Amino acid sequence: MLADNKDLFPLKRICLYDIRSEHQDIVGEYGKILVREYYPELEEFIYTTDETVAFENVDFALMQIRAGMIEMREKDEKIPLKHGCVGQETCGTGGFAYGLRSVPEIIDLIKKIRKQSPEAWILNYSNPAAIVAEATKRVFPDDYRIMNICDMPISIMDQFGKLIGCTRYDFEPRYFGLNHFGWFTHLYDKKTGEDLVPKVKEKLLNGHVFEKGGEDEHLWDKSWIETYNFMSNILRDFPEYLPNTYLKYYLYPNHVVNTSNPEYTRANEVMDGKSKRTYNMMREVIQAGKLKGTKHEIKPGRGVHARYIVELAACIANHKNDIFLIITKNNGTIPNIDPDMMVEVACRVGINGAEPLSMEPIGTFYKGMMENQYAYEKLTVDGLFEQDKQKLLEALVLNRTVVDTDTAKAVLDDLIEANKDYWGKLFQ
Ligand code: G6P
Ligand code: MN
Repeated sequence: MLADNKDLFPLKRICLYDIRSEHQDIVGEYGKILVREYYPELEEFIYTTDETVAFENVDFALMQIRAGMIEMREKDEKIPLKHGCVGQETCGTGGFAYGLRSVPEIIDLIKKIRKQSPEAWILNYSNPAAIVAEATKRVFPDDYRIMNICDMPISIMDQFGKLIGCTRYDFEPRYFGLNHFGWFTHLYDKKTGEDLVPKVKEKLLNGHVFEKGGEDEHLWDKSWIETYNFMSNILRDFPEYLPNTYLKYYLYPNHVVNTSNPEYTRANEVMDGKSKRTYNMMREVIQAGKLKGTKHEIKPGRGVHARYIVELAACIANHKNDIFLIITKNNGTIPNIDPDMMVEVACRVGINGAEPLSMEPIGTFYKGMMENQYAYEKLTVDGLFEQDKQKLLEALVLNRTVVDTDTAKAVLDDLIEANKDYWGKLFQ
């Protein structure tokens, strides 16, 4: 994606950083070939597990970590299901467990980056982004160069664009909520100002079916196709705004649990699918020593996940002031919501950071949903920072995917056991 965008976002140096050399070697060697063929202008490409090398003199740190890796994701998804709760990596108790692993690592990483590159833009995809953002706000309150973001609304907008015969570059979104918990209020046509939401709604309500394929890897897998198709169900029940796909887990937890396979979750689908495909592809490229002229040749325009973060970096570097959805402190953006809440809203983004576009007060339903969910997120971070198990229990009871106290206690016990190598001092 960086090579794809080199005209807009020209770079001198790319450095890949990871903590697992056995995985990184493959990515790094593949990267060397890619850079040689597609980015010869680049002065330096390196990969390293040495943070002092990686974090020196950085302008942009594009960051995504998965604390506990896919093996722990599998547990995050399967443990809740055993208790009849939603098993999802970022929602509900799975996201909670992931958050308690993720936050300390991310804070540590940001501190290290800040030591060596005090002015770097840190664009962070790491999940669960809502909890991560609540934590980074507290630890780095004035650091506007840390931006927590999520590509989900972009993937959704790509699909909306397809539904109505345009691309997401043809419209500007207005959106509000928390991460993985929000709604599109408007999609304004950039040329005419027309709100395209009614057209999208019409397509969704009149039986549009999302099918396998396209540039977005999400739509290559069965579970994600189902999730996309579920959007019209949500819209039928809550017709005011266009929903984020993740609302499925909060608004229909019974349906989700009943249609989940406790033995085979998304983590398994990823391990058997996307992950295997990607590593096999890289190994083949390394063996062949080339990409161009092989079936793995890079096709411009492919990929969504990486595109969003690179577009954001380019927008900042060029001070373009385009609209992005960013997780940021509410600060009055939604007037009838806690100013401290980390909301996901439309922002103009440039060299001075993200400037949220203020909104009208939101309705009681959305306000209630957000306040409840934010209380869960806050208590999760409180519980972690204060090493307070009571707060963690309270967090889980507030989560819409749990609610029942006995269930929350039982899941929490299982999660403590499963995460004992990660949650560290928390429960000693
Ligand atoms: C979307 C979300 C991410 C999430 C990812 C999971 O992109 O915005 O926050 O991590 O989906 O996708 P996967 O293919 O790993 O299930
Ligand atoms: Mn996300």
